[in-house]
Amino acid sequence: MLIEVDNLSKIYKTKLSLIKSQGESVRAVDNISFNIDSGDVVGLVGESGCGKSTLSRLIMRLEKPTNGYIKYNDKDIWALKREEIKGFRKSCQVIFQDTMTSLNPNIKVLDSLMEPLNNHYKILRKEKIKKIEDIICFANLKEEILNKYPLDISGGERQRINICRALILEPKFLICDEIISSLDVCTQASILNMIKKLNSFNDMGVLFISHDISAVKYLCSKIMVMYKGSIVETIDNEDAGYKIKHPYTSQLISSVPINNPNKRINEKIVI
Ligand SMILES: Nc1ncnc2c1ncn2[C@@H]1O[C@H](COP(=O)(O)OP(=O)(O)O)[C@@H](O)[C@H]1O
Ligand SMILES: [Mg+2]
Repeated sequence: MLIEVDNLSKIYKTKLSLIKSQGESVRAVDNISFNIDSGDVVGLVGESGCGKSTLSRLIMRLEKPTNGYIKYNDKDIWALKREEIKGFRKSCQVIFQDTMTSLNPNIKVLDSLMEPLNNHYKILRKEKIKKIEDIICFANLKEEILNKYPLDISGGERQRINICRALILEPKFLICDEIISSLDVCTQASILNMIKKLNSFNDMGVLFISHDISAVKYLCSKIMVMYKGSIVETIDNEDAGYKIKHPYTSQLISSVPINNPNKRINEKIVI
């Protein structure tokens, strides 16, 4: 199994609890279990504050769980040796929503893409440049962009560069945490299609996180619905006759406006 999440919980103690012996705590992730296999595109949907980003950080080994564990290729990610951690960092990538802070504004796009290659590959610079050119082409970007600074390109282009930065290391597992939320409708559609194309090319496992159930429905075979730190329902998106079980899921679906642009994306755009 590529990713195995077992009884995972993360409890944050709030400031109050430092003062009082029995203070407040937030169960940001509350006893979650699921698996993601190579080639799977799994959706995670839920309202703001339900614990989606905390879950991403736990899976990426950026924070330690309070309980439970995460296994990558059958190994507990907190039991990895130093060299194995480096391999894990290369193989498991995450892209966050904020396109501006994910890229260093002081360095050109070329150097932002060079950075992960310098960290993980011992190959000639010309081979690195070839990798960068290939990924830029895959992302439907023009090579001129390589000489620009993040502030001189659009939000959509920045997000594509972020995706390129993650993909250039040829990860086995990718988390996309609300990566389309701040983008306009057309850019959202093209980014969704880029992820779809990518998944059809290699056997990467993807966890696609969004608060927008229609985007997730377009992309994913399985959709996990998260509510207040727990997974309350897992929808089989390939089952046309699937009946929604949990009231929160019905609420989430009914809150999608009829003229939601992503509904149009789902119908019209083909790769
Ligand atoms: N470092 C932290 N310290 C304390 N509470 C946190 C921390 N990070 C997140 N939280 C809380 O955990 C809950 C889940 O947050 P988050 O994972 O960011 O949700 P989402 O990504 O679904 O919007 C929220 O109540 C948030 O305030
Ligand atoms: Mg979040």
